[in-house]
Amino acid sequence: MKEEHVDRIIDSYRGDSTAIVAILHELNTVFRYLPREALERVSDELSIPLSHLYSAATFYRSFDLEPCGEHEIQVCLGTACHVRGGGLILDALSRRLGIKPGETSADGQFTLKRVNCLGACALGPLVSIDRVHHGHLSIHQAERLLEAYKDEGD
Ligand code: FES
Repeated sequence: MKEEHVDRIIDSYRGDSTAIVAILHELNTVFRYLPREALERVSDELSIPLSHLYSAATFYRSFDLEPCGEHEIQVCLGTACHVRGGGLILDALSRRLGIKPGETSADGQFTLKRVNCLGACALGPLVSIDRVHHGHLSIHQAERLLEAYKDEGD
């Protein structure tokens, strides 16, 4: 665990037990998920019940309780993206990676997620990889994009 990062986050929120979402956001940014040990330390040091941290972590879908792959793929299935074929793109990427939404590929390279709106509906269907938006994608383009990220790792 990156102890010094957790210490810094704890120090910056000491005395402010209402900043749960901000704390979780910082932890998720540092670790790319929320390790149980980090949540336990925050709970102990800031006197925030662990159950409060977990209930916020599960309420907001942007937090991860399991480690993410090297690349995070978010496929938008909000209404605007869904009607333009977002579901077909999700199916195609899921098939290519051999994993379901919410899972990480066996080699640890990719985590595939289904999200409800990325806030750029005019670009639909939209896929975000490592927070970079790729809009107006066809299935073929999405598959090629995935291959480009795979090649990058070779
Ligand atoms: S519905 Fe996909 S970005 Fe809004």
